[in-house]
Amino acid sequence: MGAVKDFAGRVAFITGGASGAGLGQARVFGRAGARVAVADVRADALAGAVAQLARQGVDAHPVVLDITDRAAYARAADAVEAHFGDPVTLLFNTAGVNGFGSVETMTYDDFDWILGVNLGGVVNGMRTFVPRMIDAGLGGHVTSVASVGGFEGSRMTGPYSAAKAAVISLMESFAQVLPAHGIGVTVLCPASIRSNISESHLTRGVAEATGVLTDDDFVGGLREVYSHGMDPEHLALHLKRAIEHDDLYAIPYPEVRDDLERTFGRILDAVPDTDELAPEGADQRLRALARFRADARERADTARSAT
Ligand SMILES: NC(=O)c1ccc[n+]([C@@H]2O[C@H](COP(=O)([O-])OP(=O)(O)OC[C@H]3O[C@@H](n4cnc5c(N)ncnc54)[C@H](O)[C@@H]3O)[C@@H](O)[C@H]2O)c1
Repeated sequence: MGAVKDFAGRVAFITGGASGAGLGQARVFGRAGARVAVADVRADALAGAVAQLARQGVDAHPVVLDITDRAAYARAADAVEAHFGDPVTLLFNTAGVNGFGSVETMTYDDFDWILGVNLGGVVNGMRTFVPRMIDAGLGGHVTSVASVGGFEGSRMTGPYSAAKAAVISLMESFAQVLPAHGIGVTVLCPASIRSNISESHLTRGVAEATGVLTDDDFVGGLREVYSHGMDPEHLALHLKRAIEHDDLYAIPYPEVRDDLERTFGRILDAVPDTDELAPEGADQRLRALARFRADARERADTARSAT
């Protein structure tokens, strides 16, 4: 089973599908013939999005879901598979929220909300669907939407950047095992999308205390920035190409190259050519790691052949 190139008839599950990047994905993959479960926490926005998709000829099914609710996630997966009569083989962990505010003012509530949706929601998506996709044996593809913000900390988006960094790492891990099951993995790292993310706080429950800025002036400024972001359909077309090419990373923003070079350059600069205090240490560590890896591989092969 190679990369997914034909989306026709496959069932896609897209979180955050009522708006922005998720809605763009629903349009693009729906037009490519996928049957699309559009999941979102906002029932009103979802109804409008699905009606719009239906007018465009997309076979779209609405799912009201808070991706931080694990039991609800499992029920949603059952309901979608029953509705379409087929398993989900395309998963898009796209829903996300951002909250801007100086990192030292962020409260526990802020961390819980932002990490809960952006990281916890992805974990829940993977735990819900990956075992089902493996069992179905039909291959497929999983995509998580992280951010270029996940490659670098930021004083104004501390919890968000931390969550996105974790999502990138998680997808790197899944990419080491899922291809053996015919399932491709992509982590999409956008820079700026024309979306409603500046209104994220409206999807939040009541916070006990918050360092997230929500005054009209600040939100208006953010709205202006994102109004110049990439069109969600263009972004979804870039993603489609990445899936077809089985690319782990999709970062379709040429303007971020210099920043990424600076970030990774800074990280590499912290690595010395030799350990001056114990020059032989590196060789010993590498040999120990190689022995451990060979042993672990042997154990995994034995366990696999026993099942
Ligand atoms: N907008 C940008 O510039 C930008 C940049 C980099 C990454 N991203 C990422 O792109 C993804 C999509 O965001 P967007 O920009 O399209 O924003 P958006 O606000 O337009 O869409 C996000 C959708 O997720 C939904 N959502 C929020 N919390 C949810 C929850 N708990 N359960 C289910 N649905 C929930 C919202 O209702 C909304 O419809 C996010 O992961 C975001 O972090 C956005």
